[in-house]
Amino acid sequence: MMKVIVVEDYAEMSDEAVKIIESQVAKNNNAVLGLATGSTPIGLYKGMIEGHKERGISYQAIQTVNLDEYIGVEQGHAQSYYTFMRENLLGHIDIPAEQAHIPNGQAISLDEECRRYEQLIDKIGPVDLQILGLGENGHIGFNEPGTSSTTTTHIVALDESTRQSNARFFNSIDEVPTKAITMGIQSIMKSKEIILMVSGEKKAEAIKTLMSKTISEQFPASILWKHNHVTLIVDKDAYKLVDSER
Ligand code: F6R
Repeated sequence: MMKVIVVEDYAEMSDEAVKIIESQVAKNNNAVLGLATGSTPIGLYKGMIEGHKERGISYQAIQTVNLDEYIGVEQGHAQSYYTFMRENLLGHIDIPAEQAHIPNGQAISLDEECRRYEQLIDKIGPVDLQILGLGENGHIGFNEPGTSSTTTTHIVALDESTRQSNARFFNSIDEVPTKAITMGIQSIMKSKEIILMVSGEKKAEAIKTLMSKTISEQFPASILWKHNHVTLIVDKDAYKLVDSER
């Protein structure tokens, strides 16, 4: 089942997601949260930090698992997802560092790291609430079009389009990694509840495809129609091609 909440803008999308996270944490103070990087959840993370600092929301017993990490980018690199999570969320709330998990894109054996990460998800999980952003090509995590719905944590070659859209964070396109380690479609689908956050006109085509409800590996996010507890929080700009056809 997918519940669709259409909101005014990015700020409202973020606020809605904060409410859902905070009510999850209130219900279950040792919940496992699945987290994403990228532009989409930054407002959500700001709201969580505010909730922690101003309203005393505690993440002390929470565990987090991140969806993905670049390969070939050092942990301390400004653009690693490790750094992103420290700067945008983890460094500003009271979660103990050892309870926040991110795949290690620097592992000596990446195959071993994939196995370790999937086992970790199964051990501390299932994830109670997974946050997802949406790629313009329908990717979730770094599961690009064509990814099998049975995938667990695995190594991927990044789509050229994904590299292009992430180039804004690097000095040049050549510096954008070509590979990443990502939770698979199956790893994501194991989550008890999923929130898909989508904002902005750039995502309008992707939302139109998603809302056609056609399930296809060519559009990875479409698998979410098979999950029993998904909330899509989408702003008007991203939803505009759906509205115009009604
Ligand atoms: C990030 C991730 C990606 C992003 C997606 C959207 O951990 O797994 O799937 O959610 O690329 O990125 P933004 O939010 O930058 O538009």
